[in-house]
Amino acid sequence: MVVHITPATSGDQPVLRNLLQLYLHDFSELLGATPDSCGLFDYPHFDAYWTDAGRKPFLLDADGRVAGFAFVRTASVLTGATEIADMAEFFVVRGLRRRGVGRAAASALFARFPGKWEVRVMERHAAALAFWSAVIDDVAHGRTERLGWVNDGGVRFSVFRFETDHRSGEAKGVAL
Ligand SMILES: CC(C)(COP(=O)(O)OP(=O)(O)OC[C@H]1O[C@@H](n2cnc3c(N)ncnc32)[C@H](O)[C@@H]1OP(=O)(O)O)[C@@H](O)C(=O)NCCC(=O)NCCS
Repeated sequence: MVVHITPATSGDQPVLRNLLQLYLHDFSELLGATPDSCGLFDYPHFDAYWTDAGRKPFLLDADGRVAGFAFVRTASVLTGATEIADMAEFFVVRGLRRRGVGRAAASALFARFPGKWEVRVMERHAAALAFWSAVIDDVAHGRTERLGWVNDGGVRFSVFRFETDHRSGEAKGVAL
């Protein structure tokens, strides 16, 4: 399977809005969130991904099929430091999970923004912790700092801090 990451344009907003609903529904199981009276989940930062230069939206495809999306921020959410990239949101559709799509796409993003990264993962999200531990361990060759952090809503996170270079997309097991 060939996995690509493509910067999203304003023309991709409809597909990203739809994928975001699937992502937010997945997360609602962990957060206890429910949709609004129209049956939709709210994502207040969506428009900023087309107006704020520090927010970068990407579409993921696998063999030309819609496979997911990623939202990257070019500043630390913990400190505001602009030399640190942050994986704000990352999603692989259920029909393609556990086939290496997430690993390939994440590694490609780490290579696209070489340098310091932070990935924040909810402590109660065991699958995401396992996924990011495995992927980051590969791209950072085990040189990862992991710290605890609590957001404004009182949710506990593990934050992975590490560095990547332009070769990170070639990490072990990645089929790009
Ligand atoms: C987490 C997510 C991105 C993983 O995507 P994926 O394409 O299925 O991941 P991969 O197939 O590339 O997995 C790579 C490795 O991560 C680990 N992993 C992935 N999903 C896992 C799971 N559900 N449980 C345990 N380990 C998992 C495994 O080590 C896996 O390697 P293996 O399949 O050879 O054992 C996907 O499940 C998803 O989109 N979840 C909902 C949104 C989300 O949680 N995003 C992350 C927010 S922090």
